[in-house]
Amino acid sequence: MGDMPVEIQPIEGKVFGARVLDVELATLSDTAFEAIHTAFLEHGFLVFPDQFLTDAQNIAFGERFGELEFGALPLANRKKLGPDSYGDVVRFDSQLMRTNLGNEAWHTDSTYWPVSSKCAMLSAVYLPNGDGATELADTRHAYESLDPAMRARIDTLSAYHSTQFSQAADVANFPEPREGTIYHGEAYLRPLVKVHPETGGRSLFIGRHAFAIPGLTREESEALLSELLAFVLSDETRVYRHEWSVGETMIWDNRALLHRACPYDYSQPRVLTGTRIRGDVPSELAYYPQDPAAEAGRQALARELELLRAEYAAGTRAPRLGERVLAG
Ligand SMILES: [Fe+2]
Repeated sequence: MGDMPVEIQPIEGKVFGARVLDVELATLSDTAFEAIHTAFLEHGFLVFPDQFLTDAQNIAFGERFGELEFGALPLANRKKLGPDSYGDVVRFDSQLMRTNLGNEAWHTDSTYWPVSSKCAMLSAVYLPNGDGATELADTRHAYESLDPAMRARIDTLSAYHSTQFSQAADVANFPEPREGTIYHGEAYLRPLVKVHPETGGRSLFIGRHAFAIPGLTREESEALLSELLAFVLSDETRVYRHEWSVGETMIWDNRALLHRACPYDYSQPRVLTGTRIRGDVPSELAYYPQDPAAEAGRQALARELELLRAEYAAGTRAPRLGERVLAG
């Protein structure tokens, strides 16, 4: 059969994103993948309706973009027991739900690992009563829209990234650090302005895991990071809310976009199958834990966590996602 041209339909009223029609990801030709890859770099995220990918097909499509961090894992409020078999909805006060809740704050994936993520895929399996959307924001458009003075100010700045920091700051959650988990005690320094390794375009590289900009006080750093995030979100043409349909697959570029999960009825099952593609080492590596540069990150994180604990204990700080995250 000849190659049908892939139809790329940009999202109306937004500066980014597209729906891809007339394509079956499970049986994708190289020509069709080329068109999809080009559209992915241009639009930042792509939605593929009616795919109903199996885990193996999910992994195979992800691998076309690069080496996987993980393939076809349930990003869910239920444990996966076997193929298409899930346990009960987990308790709201479990660590899994604390981690899920944290993802309702804007972020880029895996900036808390030595090599941060290239892109991420989600496929909708179970949805709670039409709820539980995913939102995305275009930080390329935000960077280009910044005033020149702000650009000049941030061009040479970096921030540490840690999900122990973001869990503490967003949901007042202080999981016990353990090597091999995402709560590993390290923090990775990354530039605030990212140069995309494939397009050369610039974007704001911020989000919930970022803290402690070297050269700034703690207050200045926190204020600048929240000012930049507010700026990204201040223009609705660069923020998109995706209401899921079962069977859909979405992929987004973690080097160009922020995203977050949206609140839903946590007593209802929600399962999205997630596949995450590792970034290319030359552009996405900060450093490894054994490198001398890692020491400053560990110290910055330890200091920050101590301050956050003290502020919560003194009642002078509320979690960034609000008090409701302490309920249950
Ligand atoms: Fe995420």
